[in-house]
Amino acid sequence: MDGPVSSSAVNSYEEFFMPFTPNRQFKKAPRLLVGAKDMHYTSHDGRSILDSTAGLWCVNAGHCRPKIAEAIARQAATMDYAPAFNMAHPQAFELASRVARMLPDGLDHVFFSNSGSEAVDTALKIALAYHRVRGEGQRTRLIGRERGYHGVGFGGISVGGIGNNRKQFGTMLGGVDHLPHTHDLARNAFSRGQPQHGAELADWLERIVALHDASTIAAVIVEPLAGSTGVLVPPVGYLERLKAICVKHGILLIFDEVISGFGRLGAPFAVDLFGITPDIITLAKGITNATVPMGATVVSPAIHDAFMNGPEGAIELFHGYTYSAHVLACAAALATLDTYEEEAIFANAAALSPYFEDAVHSLKDHPNVIDIRNLGMVAGLELAPRPGAIGARAYDTFVACYNAGLLTRVTGDIIAISPPLIAQKHHIDEMIGILGDVLKTTA
Ligand SMILES: Cc1ncc(COP(=O)(O)O)c(C=O)c1O
Repeated sequence: MDGPVSSSAVNSYEEFFMPFTPNRQFKKAPRLLVGAKDMHYTSHDGRSILDSTAGLWCVNAGHCRPKIAEAIARQAATMDYAPAFNMAHPQAFELASRVARMLPDGLDHVFFSNSGSEAVDTALKIALAYHRVRGEGQRTRLIGRERGYHGVGFGGISVGGIGNNRKQFGTMLGGVDHLPHTHDLARNAFSRGQPQHGAELADWLERIVALHDASTIAAVIVEPLAGSTGVLVPPVGYLERLKAICVKHGILLIFDEVISGFGRLGAPFAVDLFGITPDIITLAKGITNATVPMGATVVSPAIHDAFMNGPEGAIELFHGYTYSAHVLACAAALATLDTYEEEAIFANAAALSPYFEDAVHSLKDHPNVIDIRNLGMVAGLELAPRPGAIGARAYDTFVACYNAGLLTRVTGDIIAISPPLIAQKHHIDEMIGILGDVLKTTA
C-alpha cells in the first residue's frame, strides 16, 4: 500500500487504527487534510475544501483564528502544565467564571474535562453522587433516549441510543432505561425549525417512572437537538414537558449541549433558545473552537452546594482528570470566548439562520430527498436508502461532495450541514450549489 503523501516521515497507512471509520475502505482512497483557514480546509492534493460541518460540529469561529492560535502559543511558552489536583492556575477560575456568566442563573459551577464523552460521564457521576450525598442513594437509574449520542464512554453509550455504538460492548451500565426518540417523518417531514408533532413523547417518562418508581431514578439525559444521530430537532413543547415531569419527580435533567452550545442554534446555548434551565449541562467542542480538547460539566447551585457539607478537609467529589482544566485548553477557551464576543459570532449565526433555512429547504425536490429539517445553523437532509444498502447513498454523496470541494457529514442516510458560524451568504450558496449538483447525480 502506498503511504501518505504529506510527510516523508510517515510512510504507511497501516498502523493508525482510525475511529468511526471503515479503515480498509478509507486506506484505499484516503482523504487527508493538511491546512485550514476560516471557512476552508486544504486537502493533501492541494484543493480548497469548503467546510460545511465546522470540522465535527466544533470549529464555530472558523479555522486557525489568530487570537486563539496566539493564546495557545503564548501559554505553551509560559507554563505548559499545572497539576490538576490540590493545585490550580488562574485561567481555570477565570474560564469557569466566564462560562458560568454566559449561562442563565441556575447553571454556575463548572467541572472541566477533555471531551464531550468525559463531560457526559462526569455529569452522570455527579448526578448519582448528588443523590447519594443527600441521602437518596437509591436513585441510581439513568434514563437516556433512543438515537441519543452522548459520546463513547461506558456511561455515554449506556444512556446513548445508537445501536451500532452499543452492540459490541457488552452489558454496559445496569439500570438504564430509554425514552423513545422523536423522529417522525410521517407527521413532521420538511419541518422548518421545531416540528409541530411529538411533545407527547416526553410523557413516556411518566411510564418509565410508573415502571421503576421515581425514587430509583437519578437523572434523564437528552441532547436538546440530537446532532450525531442525524439532526433531530425537538418537537414544540417536548423539552418543556420533559422538564416538568423531571421536576415533579425529583429527577435531575441533563442537557447534553456538546453540539448545541456556543451559538450553533442561533442562541448562545440551547438553554437560552428554549428558555429551559436543566440541572446540569455538558459542553465541549466549541468551548475551545476545537483547538485544544476540552469538556465541561456545568451544574446548578443546589447540586454543587449539596457536596459542600462534610468536613472542610474532605474531598467532596472523587473524580477528575490529569488534564482537567488543562492550561492550554483554558488559554484556548478564553481566547475563543473573546473571539465569539468581539466578532458577535452568535449574532451572525442568528442573523444567517433564516437564509440558511431557505437555502437548505430549496433542495426539497432533489432526487431521493425524503426530509429536510433545520434549526439555527444546523440542518439534516435525509435520503431514501438504497434497497439493501442503508447508508450507501449518503456515503456516496459525501465522497462526491468532497471531490467537488465540499466537506459534509453523514450518519446513515442523513447528511448533516453545520458550517462555522462565521459563514456568509455566499458560503451557504456555494454549499447548497455543490450539494444540489451532487444530489442530482448520486443515484
Ligand atoms: C451531544 C454529544 N455528546 C457527546 C459527544 C462526545 O464528544 P467527544 O467526541 O468530544 O467525546 C458528542 C460528539 O459528537 C456529542 O455530539
